Formats: sequence, structure tokens, C-alpha cells
Amino acid sequence: MILPIVAYGDPVLRKEAETITKVYPKLNELIQDMYETMYAASGVGLAAPQIGLPIRLFLVDATPFSEDDDLTPEEQQQLKGFKRTFINAQILEEDGDEWAFSEGCLSIPDIREDVFRKPKIKIQYQDEDFITHTESFDGLIARVIQHEYDHIEGILFTDKLSSLKKRLIKGKLANISKGKISVDYRMRFPAQKKKR
Ligand code: NI
Repeated sequence: MILPIVAYGDPVLRKEAETITKVYPKLNELIQDMYETMYAASGVGLAAPQIGLPIRLFLVDATPFSEDDDLTPEEQQQLKGFKRTFINAQILEEDGDEWAFSEGCLSIPDIREDVFRKPKIKIQYQDEDFITHTESFDGLIARVIQHEYDHIEGILFTDKLSSLKKRLIKGKLANISKGKISVDYRMRFPAQKKKR
């Protein structure tokens, strides 16, 4: 089932998300619905707060990035089919010199801005079967994970922009939270909840 994606301005995107356990109700169904929702919106990542649930769960499928012709065949191969579910993730380390990449977010349509992040991460998480993994990632995969991880910490990529950039996109962000935007996937806008 495709779920509506929560738009910028909804308080759920600002919560520090909670740890979950194996007995979380209908978890497998929820994960399936989240993949379906992400693919329907052509996203490479989706975090539970973006569908209205403040829990530490996010998914990544970096396959669309593998079609980038600027990458080496090895890099393309690495991205293709990189599909992973992260439960109760904790970033343990971030390393290297920050690099810029133009990020977007399904909750913040039509805005893309360069965001600086460190290139390497070490992360501990549980998979769908609640098996714990500790892994290191770099490049674009690390980038997507960092962006999704921020979501479960209540952080959005727009928070990381310069104050000038923030001023420049302020009006656009206000319009998104009011639903004054056209999007080709299902969204839920904070202002709509108040309508009677
Ligand atoms: Ni996002």
C-alpha cells in the first residue's frame, strides 16, 4: 500500500524517533509499504517519520544512482541493487573531509541544495530479522544513509544550509507546508489537517 508522504512543516519530522522491538505491530507489512511508497515517489531512501511514524526505521535503495554516467563501472556496480533496511541505527563514526552533494527530500519537493557531509561512516543497525550489523560505507551510499539517519534524529537537509540559503528558500518551504505545490506522488500537508 502506498502511504502519503508527510510534508515539511509537520512536527513528526522534528521528533527524535524511538527505538523499536521485534514485536512492533505489523512491522513486515510496514516495511513493505514503505518500499512501495519510496519506489512510487522515485526516492532512493525513506524514513518512518516521513510516513508519520516517529520510529527508528529507514530504508535505502541506491539503484537509481547507479545510472549516473559520471561514475566508474565499479561505483555503478556497488550502487546497483544496494537495498537495505535499517532498524534502530546508530552512526558510530563519521570520517574524512566534507564533500558537497546536491540533496533533495521527498518531504521537501522541488528543493535541491548542496549539503556538506563527511564521506565515510560506520553504522550499527538491525535488519528486518533484528540481526545486528556493524558496517562501514562511503560515497553515495554513505550520503543516502546520512540523510535518512538525520530523519530519525528529527533533522532535515535544509537545516544544514547556510543562513543565506535558508533565507532564499524560506518562502518555498512555507508554501510546501501549506500544500501550495504540485507533486506527482501522494503527500500529506500539515495545513490539511486543520481543514474542516
Ligand atoms: Ni529526506
